[in-house]
Amino acid sequence: MDLDIYDVALRDEDLARTWLDLKEAAPGPVFWTDRNEGHWTILDGRDVERVYTSPDVFSSIDIFIPPNGSRDNVLIPLEMDPPQSIKYRKVIQAAMMPGAIGALVERARSESIAIIEELAPKGHCEFIQDFAGVLPIIVFLALVDLPAEDRHFLVPLAEMSTRPETPEKRIEGHLALRKYLEENIERRRANPGPDLLSKIALAEIDGRQVSMDEALRFASTLMIGGLDTVTNLLGFTALYLANNPDHRRLLLENPDLVPAATDEFVRRFGVVAVARRVIQDVEIGGASMKAGDMVLAPTWMYAVDDAIVSDPLTVDFHRKNGRNLTFGAGAHVCLGMHLAKRELRIFLEEWISRIPEFEVDRDADVSIATGIVSGITAMTLKWPSRVT
Ligand code: HEM
Repeated sequence: MDLDIYDVALRDEDLARTWLDLKEAAPGPVFWTDRNEGHWTILDGRDVERVYTSPDVFSSIDIFIPPNGSRDNVLIPLEMDPPQSIKYRKVIQAAMMPGAIGALVERARSESIAIIEELAPKGHCEFIQDFAGVLPIIVFLALVDLPAEDRHFLVPLAEMSTRPETPEKRIEGHLALRKYLEENIERRRANPGPDLLSKIALAEIDGRQVSMDEALRFASTLMIGGLDTVTNLLGFTALYLANNPDHRRLLLENPDLVPAATDEFVRRFGVVAVARRVIQDVEIGGASMKAGDMVLAPTWMYAVDDAIVSDPLTVDFHRKNGRNLTFGAGAHVCLGMHLAKRELRIFLEEWISRIPEFEVDRDADVSIATGIVSGITAMTLKWPSRVT
């Protein structure tokens, strides 16, 4: 099929719906495209799961489409295979567990409330720039115990990285982020604390302290991994709620539904489609793949496969069968999943109680970008502003 993952036109601004159309039109559950240097794409939920859980066949050595082509700047631990990747994960794993992130979550909550209260009287906002792109930065800063005020410097850098005006701007953004992290890693090495950046700065792998370069690639992964992903999950959730007043009111009137709603939005709005490099000839979904081939596995195809989840496109806060691979599966399953879910929950709790009625302002364009991480890049929301 002729599919460019960076240029998929969405039906009804809905990624999963569009991909189910694609599945219907495809010649089989796996197809090949010559685009982006050529790769297979998996459409069947169970096959997606197999790709993520078989590192001996589907390696993480290349997870981008098209592949990076250089080993100089591999992301740690994302672009490594077990057992090596597991050693790095262990450095931060405990600190990302639900019991350990309480203080981070509270900081993210208070900052979110401050932003929402500033927005509420205005009656409108550009949701991505004003909220969804900001919350993950606040969380990243809380995670590495750096001042929340640094977000004013980091938000533009993040935008340069994910939506650069030119390729040079992306490199400029990466270099500025590396410099920022390097100074702080040096400080932590001289004067360590209980925070995550200190853990990364002083990590020992195979009996030696990690190099500055390793520490930088590791710390950057936290920001890169947790930025666009959360922004886009928040974006699709806000778009859904803007279009569905009944679901909005349900949450306003039954705040106890928020945890279940959080899980349901996570299921329904998977946004990540990373790839693997085939390292052993294999047969999957009727396709014969050769060692060296690239294969793309869209995480959302699992949760919208009706052989796995019934009536999968419906958003149902009372759903009992919401299995999903939104955070991946197997050796690389997302380390930030608990935090990400708390961020979404904070949004649902704090936004809906302060701005219960909102809709998309169709006078402004809604922009959606598709790719390794798909999502909304611009969306203006409007609501009846309070008289203060
Ligand atoms: C809605 C939000 C998020 C989604 C959908 C998401 C999704 C994913 C997925 C699918 C993977 C697996 C990639 C693979 O198998 O190659 C992953 C890995 C990872 N994520 Fe997330 N993520 C989210 C938020 C976060 C946050 C907030 C953080 C940290 C602050 C984070 C940090 C990581 C890290 C460090 C890895 C690499 C784990 C490894 O390689 O072993 N993620 N994420």
